[in-house]
Amino acid sequence: MRIALLTTGGDAPGMNPAIRAVVRRALAFGDEVWGVESGFHGLRGNCFLPLDRRSVSAIVNRGGTMLKTLRCPAFREPGYRRECYANLARREIEALVIIGGNGSQAAARDIVAENGLAVACIPASIDNDVPGTEETIGFDTAVNTALQAVDRIRDTATSHERVFLVEVMGRESGFIALAVGLADGAEVILVPEVPTDIGRVVETLRQGMAQGKKSMIVVVAEGAADTGSLAREIAARYPGEVRFSVLGYIQRGGAPSARSRYLALLFGARAVEALHEGSRAVMVGLENSRVVVRDLAGALPERKLDAGQLQLAHLLGSGTAG
Ligand code: F6P
Repeated sequence: MRIALLTTGGDAPGMNPAIRAVVRRALAFGDEVWGVESGFHGLRGNCFLPLDRRSVSAIVNRGGTMLKTLRCPAFREPGYRRECYANLARREIEALVIIGGNGSQAAARDIVAENGLAVACIPASIDNDVPGTEETIGFDTAVNTALQAVDRIRDTATSHERVFLVEVMGRESGFIALAVGLADGAEVILVPEVPTDIGRVVETLRQGMAQGKKSMIVVVAEGAADTGSLAREIAARYPGEVRFSVLGYIQRGGAPSARSRYLALLFGARAVEALHEGSRAVMVGLENSRVVVRDLAGALPERKLDAGQLQLAHLLGSGTAG
């Protein structure tokens, strides 16, 4: 089978182990594997490179993606997609493996509907917001990176007896914020899934101070609030010093964790196996901690933040119901 492989959307630690698994599993079937550089942009630009075992040596522990990636809204245009299909046909590609986040599934559905190509998606995003899988490649690494940063910030918060707001990524989801806030013991966790009530935030912080807390952490998902403005609003209503820190793109880099590599390697191999089993439009994912192959033709179960875990995090962190 002639397979093309690309990474798309925001990069995630674990994309390289996934690339390695796809290439080496495919070669074990006797397949020919072509990498496409810079996602769908490179597909349109005919940027193919042959991949063999050695092409993917020494990348299992590297963050980022050796194939590079881009966000490519232009792929929504039929004319743009037709140019991509022409390049795939020119190389007689029979199947496409897409490693990426939320947009990958819609792209895959378009490709399969308009083209005879088989497509297998591998969910990779630090946001963990891809329908159809309990966990995405990269999420665990990003959570650990952010957690290390928040633990460091807690040191200076303690020294200066300050309240710190720390912003984490996650686009429109709060999965990173909840995981980091729970693990750090944050007093408050703000997520886009729950409207931010600044009065309740200030009340929680005041209660903490009354209980003798000299420093506290508020983890803010980037989609929940403008962290700088929120810090200033809280500072105007809270008797102690307030500072904020935006973690930003460090959450997208770094060596993939063991967990991220584990998912990447299992998902990558399973995607190739599914293609060889005759699958046409699928996404591999995790369900009840087992690797599954989901049919993209059907609706995929949406990812919902666990409100009970958010309540528990607040109960353990600040003693409030949250
Ligand atoms: O989707 C991953 C992500 O890191 C989000 O958490 C974040 O909001 C977004 O990408 C940033 O997008 P860009 O890399 O295009 O600035």
